[in-house]
Formats: sequence, structure tokens, C-alpha cells
Amino acid sequence: MVEIAPSILSADFTRLGAEIEAVERGGASVVHVDVMDGHFVPNITVGLPVVKHVAGATRLTVDTHLMISEPGRYAAQFAEAGAQMVSVHVEADAHLHRTLMSIKDKGAQAGIAINPATPLAALEEAVQFADFILLMSVNPGFGGQKFIPSSVDKLRRLRRLIEERGLRTRIEIDGGIDRTNISEIVGAGAEIIVAGSAVFGATDPAQAVRELREAAVQWV
Ligand code: DX5
Ligand code: ZN
Repeated sequence: MVEIAPSILSADFTRLGAEIEAVERGGASVVHVDVMDGHFVPNITVGLPVVKHVAGATRLTVDTHLMISEPGRYAAQFAEAGAQMVSVHVEADAHLHRTLMSIKDKGAQAGIAINPATPLAALEEAVQFADFILLMSVNPGFGGQKFIPSSVDKLRRLRRLIEERGLRTRIEIDGGIDRTNISEIVGAGAEIIVAGSAVFGATDPAQAVRELREAAVQWV
């Protein structure tokens, strides 16, 4: 099943509750929260208090994408705050197994995020410990960037790597996704599709989610 995960990075934070309600009406099943520390990435966004309030205010699956250094220090706290999915970057963590287990121990799904220039080889051992992989199709840090075309081939190779190992790891993809490229991305094996500016940059975010869902099944 393909799930649309609107990223609140591009939402109006003064109306966050209403923005999330709108994407739920449009058929989104996940809400993606981008946590940035100004160190791992050159931008600062939101942290635990916002995740806690979002989780308390919606029935959607809360998905926190941690773009922070030393994620092992905080990952379990995000699960405790109500996130059902927590991903940490492979580039940021020397103790990935421990961090992923700390997320699972809190009952959340543990994900590994990987940057565009990081080879899939970095996942070969760790993939077995993760519930999902978050493939970045832009360099993390900002919404509204252009999709990096080679991500489609990387996505196909990741799908193959997972299948070869007989795993059921899901693939989430993040960055530069809109109506024009979503079907190719779904066809290449992504199941959870993050979209920020394509949803909250639209005048009607509920309708934007509907259109993404329709476009997702128009196989190329
Ligand atoms: C980028 C974030 C993304 C971002 C996606 O660092 O991880 O989740 O919000 O935004 P769009 O869909 O506009 O590329
Ligand atoms: Zn993200």
C-alpha cells in the first residue's frame, strides 16, 4: 500500500492543527516531522514539544525524521513523545544498532535515513535491524528542493537489496516529490512518499494529497 506522508516543514505553523486535519481529509496516513539541529544539517526546526502536541492532536502515524548529530541521545525520547516512526541518519550514528533497538524498545518503528551521496553499501549490515529505510532524494535541510534524478535508480537498487535478503523493510522516500514524478517513484519500489511543498505549498492541501494519491497509481 502506498502511503502519503505530508511534511509539516512547509506548513503554516500558526495553524498546524488545521493543516494536519486538512491532509488527513485528503487521505494522508502519515504526518512527517522534520527535526533539524543546525549541526547535522544547516537549518533548525522543531523538537520534542512539537512532536508531543502533534501526536496528541492527530490519529495519523507520526513519523519523525531526525536530522541531528548523535541521534542515539534523543531517538527514544521521540518515540516516548508519541512518534510511531523514528528515523536516524546512517551518516550521523556510530552506534546505529543500539539506537534502532532503543526506538523499537519504546514500541515505535525504527528507520535508517540515507543521504543522496551515501552509498547503499552503508546499509548492507544495518538494514536487517530497521523497519524502514528513508531514502533522501534531496540533500536534507530544506523543503522545496529539486528531486535528484539518480534517486530512482538508487531506489530500485535498494528494493533489490531488501528483496535479496528476504526482508520486509519498507522504503520511504523524501525530497522533491510532486505529481509529475510520484508514479515513477512508486513504480521503483517506494511505499511511503514524503511531500512537503507539493502539499502545503498548494492552496488546498487536502486536494493536493488527493491528487498525489491519484498520480501515484498512474503507473508509467
Ligand atoms: C528535507 C526534509 C523533507 C522536506 C521535503 O530536508 O527532510 O522532509 O520537508 O520537502 P519537499 O517535499 O518540499 O522537497
Ligand atoms: Zn524529511
